[in-house]
Amino acid sequence: MLEVSNIDTFYGKMQALWGVSLRVDEAEIVALIGANGAGKTTLLNTISGLLRPASGSVEFLGKRIDGLTPHSIVELGISHVPEGRKLFADMSVRENLEMGAYTSGAWKNKAETREQVYQIFPALKEREKQLARTLSGGEQQMLAMGRGLMAKPKLCMFDEPSFGLAPMLLLEVFQVIEALREQGITILLIEQNVRRTLEISDRAYVLENGRVVLEGESKELLQEELVKKAYLGL
Ligand SMILES: Nc1ncnc2c1ncn2[C@@H]1O[C@H](COP(=O)(O)OP(=O)(O)O)[C@@H](O)[C@H]1O
Ligand SMILES: [Mg+2]
Repeated sequence: MLEVSNIDTFYGKMQALWGVSLRVDEAEIVALIGANGAGKTTLLNTISGLLRPASGSVEFLGKRIDGLTPHSIVELGISHVPEGRKLFADMSVRENLEMGAYTSGAWKNKAETREQVYQIFPALKEREKQLARTLSGGEQQMLAMGRGLMAKPKLCMFDEPSFGLAPMLLLEVFQVIEALREQGITILLIEQNVRRTLEISDRAYVLENGRVVLEGESKELLQEELVKKAYLGL
């Protein structure tokens, strides 16, 4: 479904990604793991068109997408729930959700999709008219995820969705991600909770200093010395 081949991405003169390749197949949950500053967010931003790779390519459903605008990449079916949520603080829950539906395919079905989002996150329905900035951290994360789903994505990319959440909510975030996959949405997930992430994902990539240093079946990565030492504290 998604094929990232050998990309280099820069911020000005500073190179943040070095020859990164990654693949996501339909209906998979693929995890991206790595310390702060490893380049995880940069990779998602390169896929979603917010950054352009200096070299290499990104293909989605057989079509080359690097160089397309972020908007047209969403149109093709990739939704990006960014790090730090990036909600519209002074807009209501409902308005934030609508902002996620600005694609030609999603707009006409937005009422129906909104109901589906409310089924996944009932708390959002109760707070429909509240401004986003008045929500708790957990509710804000649900809203960010809900907004991402409003675009009716085929592939949904989540950048640290459980960041700053209490353990109970953290559990809920993982349950939602598994439920989305059951509904046929393919997932690329960045997470700091490495053990839980490797338990729910099919495959994973470990990034260090802008390079993929390890990749494989998540089950197997749980047994890798590098992963145990650096990310599981064993
Ligand atoms: N907007 C930016 N401008 C310049 N450098 C950046 C910017 N964003 C990230 N970086 C740098 O790129 C590298 C990778 O960052 P990032 O992708 O945010 O890592 P991660 O998400 O894995 O924590 C880091 O060295 C970071 O300091
Ligand atoms: Mg990041």
